[in-house]
Amino acid sequence: MLSITVPTLPRAARPRPVRALVLLCLVATAAAADPRPAPAADPALQTLGRQLFFDGRLSASGRQSCATCHDPRYAYGPRPGEGLAKGGPHLDRLGSRAVPSLRYLQAVPDFTLTHRFTDGDIGPAGGYTWDGRARSIGEQARLPLLDPDEMANRSAAEVARRLNAAGYRTSFEAIFGPGVLGNPDRALAAATEALAAFQRTPAEFYPYSSRYDAFLRGELELTDAEAHGVELFKDPKKGNCASCHAVLTRAGVPPVFTDYDLLNIGVPRNPRIPANADPAHFDLGLCGPKRTDLAAERRYCGFFRAPSMRNTAIRAAYFHNGVYTTLDEVMHFYVERDLYPEKYYPRAADGTVRKFDDLPPELVANIDHDAPMDRPPGAEPALSDAEIADLMAFLKTLTDADVAR
Ligand code: HEC
Ligand code: HEC
Repeated sequence: MLSITVPTLPRAARPRPVRALVLLCLVATAAAADPRPAPAADPALQTLGRQLFFDGRLSASGRQSCATCHDPRYAYGPRPGEGLAKGGPHLDRLGSRAVPSLRYLQAVPDFTLTHRFTDGDIGPAGGYTWDGRARSIGEQARLPLLDPDEMANRSAAEVARRLNAAGYRTSFEAIFGPGVLGNPDRALAAATEALAAFQRTPAEFYPYSSRYDAFLRGELELTDAEAHGVELFKDPKKGNCASCHAVLTRAGVPPVFTDYDLLNIGVPRNPRIPANADPAHFDLGLCGPKRTDLAAERRYCGFFRAPSMRNTAIRAAYFHNGVYTTLDEVMHFYVERDLYPEKYYPRAADGTVRKFDDLPPELVANIDHDAPMDRPPGAEPALSDAEIADLMAFLKTLTDADVAR
């Protein structure tokens, strides 16, 4: 018999031990309302959005488009070796966040601090980017266009000038009316609306073409390892992954494997991020410094949005700071974070392990301790290496057909 002592570590800001159990009962039947029914498609707007998405002339360098970072060959995520965004006028500025995949974002709910989860818990959820600070996919597109580390335009007027110079006047006027590119605010709003429309193209952004989707449609059987992996993913005493990467779905819509929840799971600091050379710098997600409206919400410092598990197996970088580049490292981090912290965190000068080194020490109470991150040193790991292999076999079934290797 396995006996596990319940750790006396500080609880996460929002304890939620039973969510997975509740979820399991809901998986097949839930009718969670889709918070954002897709607006009617507008083919002209989508075509324009596609052109803009692939057009490097809209950046200060003249060479960086949205697709440079969000490459369609990698599910609109980063290319191998380019997990952390690099941009700026000379394409030499390394940012501090991993490039997310743009697939399966069609139902991200509005950001809120008071989302009521299926188990009754209340907490932050939703919004675009890792910290939920962009209210819509359209508002989101302003960020890279104007970010000095990304496409690096200095103003809306500069974006409008680039659109004019790239010959977009006729197509913008046909859709948005005469003079639209003459007014910088209108021009930027129009460009972001077109980009958002493109990102709502189902075949490109939510094709549901993975092997797992074929399995859900009854077209194929999972292998034994894959089927076991699904069970481990859901089992609250094993992976417990579904408690955050929810299997919840509404009738007829396949799951995206997240409930858009923001949480702090104690991801190690990434020394490759230039800003981290300053030991006093911390990327605290929800409470800043990139996000500026919730700096006072100290209990939510270090909270980042749980991403979808779709296409996760082909990602070039994992977690908000891209600290890991393989799924295997991510799995072992989950299982061993508390058992062998010395494998994941650096040592201080006096030899002690600086666990949770990407948070100021006074904020470690914010860290989540749900399974599988609920075991004290010396306990049995929640998943054996063989079980981790099966879990990864399942995650690989979530890769869309067009990007499967
Ligand atoms: C230099 C690389 C880079 C470029 C260029 C870039 N992005 Fe991103 N994108 C990122 C990074 C990094 C994030 C995460 C930002 C954060 O969390 O603060 C992101 C986040 C996003 C998100 C939010 C995803 C989510 O999970 O909520 C969307 C949508 C998006 N980008 C669309 C675009 C569009 C549209 C363009 C072109 C106008 C673009 N990006 C250009 C790197 C880039
Ligand atoms: C308590 C909630 C929780 C549990 C349980 C959980 N995750 Fe996560 N997961 C998160 C959050 C939050 C993030 C983002 C953290 C960050 O970037 O700081 C994340 C990120 C990830 C990522 C990185 C994805 C990307 O695009 O960078 C993978 C892969 C992942 N989780 C897989 C799993 C698996 C597999 C399990 C089960 C063994 C699991 N998670 C259990 C909340 C959770």
